[in-house]
Amino acid sequence: MTITVRLGTPADNPKIHDLISKITMPGPAEMCFQRQPDFFIGAKVIGDEFVLAVADDSERPEVLAGLTVISGRDLYISGQRRRVYYSGDTRVDPYYRRRGIASQMFVAQKEYRSTTDLLQGIVIKDNVAPLEAAKNAADGVLFDYWVSHTIETSFIFTRKIKPRIPAGVEIRAATAADVPAMQAFFDREAPRRNGYPCYEFAKVLANDPYYAGISIGDYALAFKAGQIIGILGSWNQKAYKQTRVMGFKPPIGLIRPLYNLYASIAGGFRLPPVGGVLNYLTLHTTLVANDDKDVFRALIDWIMAHQGQKYDALACGITHGDPLVEVPRGYKRQKLFSSHFWLSYGEDPRPGIDNRPLFVELGRL
Ligand SMILES: CC(C)(COP(=O)(O)OP(=O)(O)OC[C@H]1O[C@@H](n2cnc3c(N)ncnc32)[C@H](O)[C@@H]1OP(=O)(O)O)[C@@H](O)C(=O)NCCC(=O)NCCS
Repeated sequence: MTITVRLGTPADNPKIHDLISKITMPGPAEMCFQRQPDFFIGAKVIGDEFVLAVADDSERPEVLAGLTVISGRDLYISGQRRRVYYSGDTRVDPYYRRRGIASQMFVAQKEYRSTTDLLQGIVIKDNVAPLEAAKNAADGVLFDYWVSHTIETSFIFTRKIKPRIPAGVEIRAATAADVPAMQAFFDREAPRRNGYPCYEFAKVLANDPYYAGISIGDYALAFKAGQIIGILGSWNQKAYKQTRVMGFKPPIGLIRPLYNLYASIAGGFRLPPVGGVLNYLTLHTTLVANDDKDVFRALIDWIMAHQGQKYDALACGITHGDPLVEVPRGYKRQKLFSSHFWLSYGEDPRPGIDNRPLFVELGRL
């Protein structure tokens, strides 16, 4: 077998989907994070530029042995706009593992980066294999990584709810006319966190691919005395990103109807049949003046009572150290922990990053 690495193109879409479908998360329900029908729509939501490296096996031209992506996007770091590169979607076909293919792809990507670039990545807690693969690449230390934060993702179970809205606060869906006020609020609030994407709401109106699947009315706005005091968006990404059930271990497969009956009464994730997708709505663009927990809770409640009613759960990611981290813990939820790390091909980047809370946009991982 001869493995070569090259840049992927839209013509690779069918092979990319085949590779992705071979990789499932272990557990009683085997889940696969799919990107149908077009991997590149999802890639443009992660960054406005990307280097997609794919590995070919000369003996099996019909398959891809692996793929990995580095995406560039502008984030606020220490209060300033900075290009940050996100390393994600690293996948090697189980048949081709432990032959240095991940390492070979990371080497190829390095050509496009410099030693001063800041990179970040996220792995499900304790899944160190991709980090080790990066670190132990063929030519010695290719790049280094520093785990920085824990991200707590909550799948908040939806139910019928009367939103708990503090006195004097009003919540409603945004309209195009709100965009200037939303932008002014964003420009003031977003830089208070590291890693916040530099959003421009006018681009939502212009159907920019970075905002694929978002309409302006998907943002909930909280007002007090006519001024915006909070924003929270909800994002249905199923048109290009799906968490699909590929199979069940025997006992779960058998009790699924019973479990779903329980979930429909008690609130919880209903399990689709094999081949079906989980039905959740992703919360995004969390901005709350003075980190007011009651306002954040009111926004989550409001979304649950409106768009949320069509979904089984609201997905909400918050980083440890963020003053709002407590709020999702007050709901009935399923939780998932991941680790965020900084990466560099050169020096340790951490001295250039101050200690503001880290923001991670779940819809862009
Ligand atoms: C992680 C993954 C990409 C590694 O791909 P790979 O091509 O097998 O990795 P490499 O052969 O280049 O590994 C290089 C080094 O990484 C380390 N490594 C790789 N897989 C490892 C594992 N499962 N456990 C521990 N160390 C591992 C080893 O040090 C290895 O060197 P060695 O084989 O000489 O000991 C692959 O296992 C995979 O696709 N996993 C599932 C998807 C995933 O977890 N993706 C990451 C989320 S972004």
